[in-house]
Amino acid sequence: MQKLSGRQLFDKIGRPTRIVAPMVDQSELAWRILSRRYGATLAYTPMLHAKLFATSKKYREDNWSPLDGSDGDRPLVVQFCANDPVHLLAAAKLVEDKCDAVDLNLGCPQGIAKKGHYGSFLMEEWDLIHNLISTLHKNLKVAVSAKIRIFDEP
Ligand SMILES: Cc1cc2nc3c(=O)[nH]c(=O)nc-3n(C[C@H](O)[C@H](O)[C@H](O)COP(=O)(O)O)c2cc1C
Repeated sequence: MQKLSGRQLFDKIGRPTRIVAPMVDQSELAWRILSRRYGATLAYTPMLHAKLFATSKKYREDNWSPLDGSDGDRPLVVQFCANDPVHLLAAAKLVEDKCDAVDLNLGCPQGIAKKGHYGSFLMEEWDLIHNLISTLHKNLKVAVSAKIRIFDEP
């Protein structure tokens, strides 16, 4: 099946206009069910840590269940933070059949993101960002997006 992106993806997932942004410790399945019930037309998972998701069974069990991304939980974007394309791809591969797109978090400004070298702290590292996004784009069935911060200068 041809991979959808851009306008085609937007059309396929029903042209969502009420989008609930990703929130750590909020955007889990129960929140998404409620959000959709009250009119959300696209939901995100909370930011998941790609390396832990790919390598730790416990982290996966704590953060992902068989109901995540199931029929009642679509359209869904799964968001990861990452700074290593191998871990990011391994994590994304585990959810590619349960979501409509995978998003890379390039916006988190918190201390924990600085310490972990992810989120907005990657935004100046263009080669790394290119590597992360192109690795996903070339190897995933679903579309890739990145949530970024807008700088003063384009
Ligand atoms: C509690 C909380 C958790 C958040 N977690 C994430 C996150 O996991 N990933 C992300 O990209 N943004 C996260 N954000 C930022 C939101 O997605 C959003 O960009 C921000 O709240 C601005 O939108 P607003 O003006 O509607 O609040 C979080 C925001 C809040 C308040």
